[in-house]
Amino acid sequence: MSEEWVRIAAPATTSNIGPGFDTFGLAMSEPCDIIEGRKTDSDTRIVEITGPGSENIPFNPKANSVGIAVEQVLKRCNADFGIELKIKKGIRPCSGMGSSGASAAGGAFLANILCGEKLSSNEMILCAAHAEDVISGGLHADNVSPCILGGFTVIRSYEPFDVIRIEPPNNLGMVVALPDIMVATSDARKVLPAEVSVKNLVFHVGNASTLVYGMMTGDLNVICRSVKDAVFEPARVKLVPLLKEAEKEAVSNGALVSFLGGSGPCIMSFYDFNTGLGDTIAEKVKAVYAEKNIKCDTWITRPGIGCKRI
Ligand code: HSE
Repeated sequence: MSEEWVRIAAPATTSNIGPGFDTFGLAMSEPCDIIEGRKTDSDTRIVEITGPGSENIPFNPKANSVGIAVEQVLKRCNADFGIELKIKKGIRPCSGMGSSGASAAGGAFLANILCGEKLSSNEMILCAAHAEDVISGGLHADNVSPCILGGFTVIRSYEPFDVIRIEPPNNLGMVVALPDIMVATSDARKVLPAEVSVKNLVFHVGNASTLVYGMMTGDLNVICRSVKDAVFEPARVKLVPLLKEAEKEAVSNGALVSFLGGSGPCIMSFYDFNTGLGDTIAEKVKAVYAEKNIKCDTWITRPGIGCKRI
């Protein structure tokens, strides 16, 4: 049995991006979770979990995003071994930055390497999405898809599963601000309406379509004016104190648009990376929370390539 440890960097992702609830996702270049694993003759087990929020992450592989995704891959590949795992969180859980998705995707990507790369990208995505379903209270692959494929992804259909990857513009600068507030995806999904009006459906279809056009043509202005959400962010705004104030401050200081990242509480701002305004936007959003004595971490990042072996 090989004793070689394999290390994977699995990046944060932002999902929904305005009109694309459960369909749009975008990989960041950082931060990342690091998932390490090696084959073992015994059952899959998690031997180490470190990093922000790790104290609340279960070691039981059946209740852990990495463990569940790894088991799915081993089962699909008919593997006759288990995997010993170490998880180093770079993305805090309950952040809206695809924390569980990064762990699940990183686990699936790692297990597939140890199985001799038998699975396609879509199969890895489905293994990771299964972990999301168990952990986050709903089947959604909008974080795990860009985490595996990199770039911007659109899920056309869940059954049958059909995802398309689009290369986003390289000057799509992103500022992620994460206030010290916890929002579990499962809770954020409970506040959503069961139905949407035709008016809002029309609004979302229009904005989603132009957002995709903007990604394909590299037009930052079209992308940013299409980041509109009449349904999901309005339902979740009560879960994130100072969200609207933070968004306003970002846009007043160089962001082209600012919105709730995934299920929150992180605040995403898009800007033209070439303006170099990322630091200013980050400081201004941080200051909104500092005024109320709420700590807020920030990252200045860009589109990334998804999971990679390091
Ligand atoms: N699309 C999901 C949601 C993403 O908004 O609930 C969760 O990160």
